[in-house]
Amino acid sequence: MKLNTLVRPLVLVAATAGAAAFAQTAAPAAPAAPAAPATQKAVIDRALLSVFKALPARFEDPKNPITPEKVELGRMLYFENRLSKNHDVSCNSCHDLNKYGVDNKPFSPGHKKQLGGRNSPTVYNAGGHILQFWDGRAPNLEEQAKGPILNPVEMAMPNEARVIETLKSIPGYVTAFQKAFPGEADAVTYNNLGLAIGAFERQLVTPSRFDKYLGGEETALNDAEKMGLKKFLEQGCQTCHNGAAIGGSLQKLGLVLPYQSKDQGRFDLTKNEADRMIFRVPTLRNVTKTAPYFHDGSVKDLQTAVKLMAQHQFGKQISDEDTKHIVTFLGALTGDLPKSYIAKPKLPASGPTTPKPDPT
Ligand code: HEC
Ligand code: HEC
Repeated sequence: MKLNTLVRPLVLVAATAGAAAFAQTAAPAAPAAPAAPATQKAVIDRALLSVFKALPARFEDPKNPITPEKVELGRMLYFENRLSKNHDVSCNSCHDLNKYGVDNKPFSPGHKKQLGGRNSPTVYNAGGHILQFWDGRAPNLEEQAKGPILNPVEMAMPNEARVIETLKSIPGYVTAFQKAFPGEADAVTYNNLGLAIGAFERQLVTPSRFDKYLGGEETALNDAEKMGLKKFLEQGCQTCHNGAAIGGSLQKLGLVLPYQSKDQGRFDLTKNEADRMIFRVPTLRNVTKTAPYFHDGSVKDLQTAVKLMAQHQFGKQISDEDTKHIVTFLGALTGDLPKSYIAKPKLPASGPTTPKPDPT
């Protein structure tokens, strides 16, 4: 086991692995190692697990204390089609809470079925990300939530004023905002909308057997999953996929072998050369449920995604057998959906002045 590669800082991996890696990928793939029986016991050095964190019950942020009233409002807004121009798109259209927070499409249809240029990431456990969006352009969930409503290919509302006018025309929302933001003279604001949705999302967490295992429950993972975890650690996947979300920081895609994409990630936002191909590392929680993969939604199955990661990030071909082991481990990251928390609430009735759907 090459433990030294695990603790080697990323910069070193990048600097030293390059040439060798290209040579390796050019050579024919090494024959797969003889199949290890799934029952073979893997011994995990628990010290290596300290890069991960068990999921908290909720991702707290002192800037937006979670209250039941905010969560209740945030849940309504999350399912609210009237926050879109034609009253036919909500957050839940693209981030279906019953489908692990995704729609399983490469790109998601928004207003007039227009498609965006990036795959919809899951909203589950997104509170554990350091930044939001594939390029990290929103600092937190509260700011993120203000984006899609005004995005012309997503919910396509013309401006914040129109959103507020709509919400104020629905008496049930005026009451709900007042309850969620008590003491505010004008509680129905665009900022408060972001705070309410953020508070709701901060509890979209899906604890899994892996969390029990991290907590010391040795039998929470079976032998095949432990073998997969061992392979995952040996490869060094945890240098980027770590923390409570098992992802969530900004890293380069194509560290060793360049990844072909028109989308240059954070560079497109900052025009800073150092940000070229920097993307927010996706969470690996529930990853067996969130296909297709990558920012471009181009990869349909998890085996291929794992193999591509090894090639592009490490310049390595990993055997089919090891890939299978890793995918088995990734399956143990699937948690239970919080069924009652995500049940669609009854939405308040429109008032006489509520704007009508606009299909244009
Ligand atoms: C038309 C589809 C669509 C709709 C509607 C939509 N989103 Fe998204 N969402 C996306 C896509 C695509 C991205 C990634 C965009 C990017 O990174 O540039 C995204 C990113 C996110 C992220 C960041 C997750 C991460 O891992 O970085 C969160 C959180 C999120 N959306 C929540 C919401 C909320 C809340 C709403 C409703 C206010 C909403 N979305 C509406 C498609 C949609
Ligand atoms: C140098 C950092 C880094 C390393 C090391 C790394 N990854 Fe990733 N991983 C990323 C980034 C960045 C992405 C997002 C790629 C994109 O933008 O399309 C990603 C995406 C993925 C995805 C797709 C998830 C999704 O929802 O689209 C999977 C699966 C994955 N990685 C698994 C692994 C495995 C398994 C390993 C070890 C063999 C690994 N990664 C090593 C940074 C890394």
